[in-house]
Amino acid sequence: NHAPLPDSYGRLLTYLRVSVTDRCDMRCIYCMAEDMTFLPKAEILSLPELERLCAAFIGHGVRRLRVTGGEPLVRRDVMSFFHEMGKWLHRDTGQPGLDELTLTTNASRLAEFADGLHACGVRRVNVSLDSLDPARFARITRRGNLARTLDGIRAAREAGLAVRINTVAMAGVNEDEFDTLIAWCGEIGADLCLIETMPMGETGEDRTDHYLPLSTVRRRLEQNWTLQPLAYRTGGPARYARIGQTGQRIGFITPMTHNFCESCNRVRLSCTGRLYTCLGHEGSTDLRAPLRAGEDDVAMMDHVRAAILRKPKGHDFLIGRDADDPARVRRHMSVTGG
Ligand code: GTP
Ligand code: 5AD
Ligand code: SF4
Repeated sequence: NHAPLPDSYGRLLTYLRVSVTDRCDMRCIYCMAEDMTFLPKAEILSLPELERLCAAFIGHGVRRLRVTGGEPLVRRDVMSFFHEMGKWLHRDTGQPGLDELTLTTNASRLAEFADGLHACGVRRVNVSLDSLDPARFARITRRGNLARTLDGIRAAREAGLAVRINTVAMAGVNEDEFDTLIAWCGEIGADLCLIETMPMGETGEDRTDHYLPLSTVRRRLEQNWTLQPLAYRTGGPARYARIGQTGQRIGFITPMTHNFCESCNRVRLSCTGRLYTCLGHEGSTDLRAPLRAGEDDVAMMDHVRAAILRKPKGHDFLIGRDADDPARVRRHMSVTGG
């Protein structure tokens, strides 16, 4: 039974984001609190459990798989997972399989893993990088080291991986750096994607102050750069333009100013085996209990199908929701890896 997974608004689920760990070696100010408590090992899906769930999703029409965290590359056995998932790439037509296997990483350990990832069939990585200034980078990530991240990015390019830089646009934090980032991405041959801050989980920083609508940013950028809108899509929410002066693409992810939910094709699996059908809602479905109770794939996919039918029409992130507002998303971004 290879029936696809439609939701109740006619959207087909073809993209799965798998968080393989809640841990991270950084503590970015928009993502985590300074003092995070991480989950005990027993809560985390084992590799065989992850692989079994992913295989079931692929069997039901998932064509793109993005590995996230936390920071996926801090999980010890993550390369075995990539190796297994890589076997699903580009199988004969008519057979279930993946068109793309990717990851989102902070690149702190990418230098070590870039070649291995390429060997597993990864061709594209998204790397979070919010500043090219070492002190500022350290302040935003709280624990990151810019030189290490840049080494990781260089290694990825050398290994033949296309790199997209993800930059969360923050007022008063890094808004003076977008021109520099565009020029730098032009030099290293990477695309750049600017992202509006989403208010999820307590991070110990006031994101109301940091919020910066990308419509404003885009107008500013257009004074220095020619932006040619592109039809190019990666299956994600970014809308792209070609930068005339550098030849690279710039993407804009605008959950706050331009909701893209009508074309949402994705669900998220947390490292504890919970299925989140929308980044902007708390609702989730536990798949670990049925998995550990020995349910077969058919029973498992019944839970998945029911969950997907409950996928909300869209998120309703609002900057400045009160702490006790029931619509406020309490979980941290790192639970589902963005
Ligand atoms: P591509 O496959 O390259 O298009 O990746 P992506 O942009 O979907 O993934 P990435 O992990 O690089 O995420 C970049 C940003 O987009 C993160 O801040 C995510 O939280 C955000 N994002 C991705 N998917 C969604 C979504 O469905 N809804 C919302 N609101 N934000 C999303
Ligand atoms: N708002 C927007 N983007 C975020 N990311 C993490 N937390 C947030 C947030 N609150 C981004 C990271 C990473 C991607 C997976 O999600 O920068 O690139
Ligand atoms: Fe770690 Fe990514 Fe969250 Fe930064 S955004 S703390 S790198 S999981």
